Amino acid sequence: MLLAGIETSCDETGVAVVRDGRILSNIVSSQIKLHSEYGGVVPELATREHLKNLLPVAEKAFAEAQINSSDIEAVAATQGPGLPPALHIGFVAAQSFAYALGKPLIGINHHEAHLYSPWIQEDRGQFQNFQSNVSLIVSGGHTLLVHVKGELDHAVLGSTVDDAAGECFDKTAKLIGLPYPGGPEMDRLAERGNPRAHKFPRPMINDPNDDFSFSGLKTAVRYFLRDHPEVMQSDAAICDLCASVQAAIVDVLVQKTIRAAKRLGVRCVTASGGVTCNSRLRAEMENACRKNNFELRIAERKLCTDNAAMIAVLGERKLMKGTPATPISAEISASWSLI
Ligand code: KG4
Ligand code: ZN
Repeated sequence: MLLAGIETSCDETGVAVVRDGRILSNIVSSQIKLHSEYGGVVPELATREHLKNLLPVAEKAFAEAQINSSDIEAVAATQGPGLPPALHIGFVAAQSFAYALGKPLIGINHHEAHLYSPWIQEDRGQFQNFQSNVSLIVSGGHTLLVHVKGELDHAVLGSTVDDAAGECFDKTAKLIGLPYPGGPEMDRLAERGNPRAHKFPRPMINDPNDDFSFSGLKTAVRYFLRDHPEVMQSDAAICDLCASVQAAIVDVLVQKTIRAAKRLGVRCVTASGGVTCNSRLRAEMENACRKNNFELRIAERKLCTDNAAMIAVLGERKLMKGTPATPISAEISASWSLI
């Protein structure tokens, strides 16, 4: 089956083409530079950018896949959750496209697509070897722990009760005076710092549930900087601070994921979302999985962050497994949460 996927839930405009689980093209136009000026995503600007970029991105995706758009057999698009005006751009385009072609539309939950992205191997271009797992989704807007019992069969175990992990990276980085998005910058500086220099709280790490909380950690960093303004005068001290904050976030994510995987008796742990680009998270998750004999699958970097290939691949799996097409007149579902 030849499918097009469209993703516009936040600040990345993505169009991909997949055939039989194989990625033929996966084009993403990122708006990070535009939003960095404002220290965060501005929904109105994101929407205008999607409107401007979607058709050029689609043309590029079709050209790279060496297909004619008229050959597409189904159109998958992010229906939610996300920024409502941004979702509208991609979803309306998908509706129109599917309608004009007379082909099925399939509305996709963005988080459900993240759940399956670790199983797409872009080099081999194939969705394969799926097994049940505990999956961590960590991005700027979400922190979710999910039990993926089988294909298209999952149960959310826990989520953040306040800030998302990426939001915590970005907000604490802002306190330290780093540019948006702060996560990658903090990761870079942390490489030269001592993660044990300062002991920051690990919120909810021992709570008997699978939820997360990160706003207290951000507040702890705020008070730390108020009480130790001298830290900002030294590059080495800033690196130590970044390393210590990063260690606190990563400890919570890794420990709670491993604990859930042990409890549920799965043999595999997966992770996706922008924060999984973090080098300490990748390394610590690898260590913990090795120690506990879990297979670890982290989505490839290009598939960790928002992209349309994961939308198209999940759309194809759903159609193959008999999920009915989405009515052509369906609306977006901006707060569609996984259950
Ligand atoms: O999934 P994503 O690209 O977009 C959404 O939020 O949907 O994730 C972006 C988030 C930002 O908060 C960014 O700071 C964080 O991922 N991030 C990182 C790293 N790279 C991206 N956080 C920590 N370390 C990184 N290397
Ligand atoms: Zn995402």
